[in-house]
Amino acid sequence: MARVYNFSAGPSMLPESVLRSAQAELLEYGSSGQSVMEMSHRSAVFDDILQQTKQRLRRVLSIPDNYKIGFIQGGASTQFAMVPLNLMTTGTADYIVTGNFSKRAAKEAQKFGTVNVIANTADCNYTAIPDVTKLTYSLNASYVHICENNTIFGTRYTHLPQPEGIPLVSDMSSCILSRPTDVSKYGLIYFGVQKNVAPAGMAIAIVREDLLGKAPSNVPDMLNYTTLLDADSMYNTPPCWCIYMTGLVLRWIEEEIGGLEKMEQLNERKAQLLYDYLDGQDFFKNSVNKPDRSIMNVVFTSPTPELDALFCKQAAQQGFVNLKGHRLVGGMRASIYNAMPEQGVVDLISFMKEFAAKNG
Ligand SMILES: Cc1ncc(COP(=O)(O)O)c(C=O)c1O
Repeated sequence: MARVYNFSAGPSMLPESVLRSAQAELLEYGSSGQSVMEMSHRSAVFDDILQQTKQRLRRVLSIPDNYKIGFIQGGASTQFAMVPLNLMTTGTADYIVTGNFSKRAAKEAQKFGTVNVIANTADCNYTAIPDVTKLTYSLNASYVHICENNTIFGTRYTHLPQPEGIPLVSDMSSCILSRPTDVSKYGLIYFGVQKNVAPAGMAIAIVREDLLGKAPSNVPDMLNYTTLLDADSMYNTPPCWCIYMTGLVLRWIEEEIGGLEKMEQLNERKAQLLYDYLDGQDFFKNSVNKPDRSIMNVVFTSPTPELDALFCKQAAQQGFVNLKGHRLVGGMRASIYNAMPEQGVVDLISFMKEFAAKNG
C-alpha cells in the first residue's frame, strides 16, 4: 500500500494511527458485538463514546465550564445561518470579510438582519488581515464575526477583535486544534470537522451559555442551538461516526502528539520550512502579507498558469496530491493540517526544487 501525501484543503488527511484504530474497531467496537456505524445512538455504548469525545474536546481545548459543545450536521455553512438566527438579538451584527467564507457568512446573515461589513480586504485580493484594533465596531452589534483562517487565500488572524461587551464569533474550520486557543475570548466558535478533526459530515459549535435561549420562536428546532445543546446533541440522530472519529483524533492529539502546545510547534515548523523555501528563491511566489500567513494553507504560484498545471500534474505522479489552488485564486495550495507529517513537507520542497530547476 502506498499512501500519498494529500494536501487537500478538506476533506483532508487523517492521522494514519487513527485510521488504523478505526479499522481495527470497524467490525466490533470494544466488546459490543457491533460496529459504531450500526449501533443505536441511544445505546449506553454510544453514549459513552459521545461523552468521552466531549470530555476530550473540553480537555484538549481547555474549554471553560460556561461553554456548551454541540455536534451539528450541515457543515460550517449551516453555521453561517445558525449564528444570526440565534445570536442576532439586536437585529444587527458586525462582519469582517477577509475571504470567500466570511463573505458567504455575511451574505447569509443579511437574510436575518442588518450586517455591517466593518472591514473588507477584497481590495488586496484577500492577501492580508486588517488591523483589528483600528476598526470601528457598531455599538449595537449583537456580535462580531470573523473567519480566523482563510482556507482559500492562505491568511490567518494573529490578533483577535475584542470590542468591549460584544461577543466574538469565529469560524475556525481550518485552524481548530492547530494550536492552543483561549476559548474565553469568544462568544461562539464553530468549525466544519473535515480538515483537522474528522471525516466530513459535521460541524462543532462551542457556545458561551449566556448567549443561548434567545432565538425567536420561529427558528426551526434543527437550527436552534438551545434545542440541540439542551438535548446534548441528541435531539435527533447525531452524526455518530463523525463523533467517534473526532474522539479518535482528539486521543491522538492528547496521547501521541502531547497536546496543543506540541501540535502548534509541529505545525509552525512545517509551515516555516515551506515559507523559508518560498522566500529564498524566485521561481514560486507567495503574495500573502507575511505577518498574516496561514500555517495551515500555504498558497503559491509558479511563473505561468501552464506551469502551475504542469506542476500539479507532475506532483500528483510523485504522490503529492490535491495541490491545485482554489478556482478563485489559481496557482497552488498546500494544506498542511495537523495530520500532514513533516516528511510530507520536506519531500514536497525537494520536488518543488527539482521542478523549479527544470522549468526555471
Ligand atoms: C473556513 C471555512 N469555513 C467554512 C467552510 C465551509 O464548510 P462546509 O463545507 O463544511 O460547509 C469551509 C470549507 O472549506 C472553510 O474552509
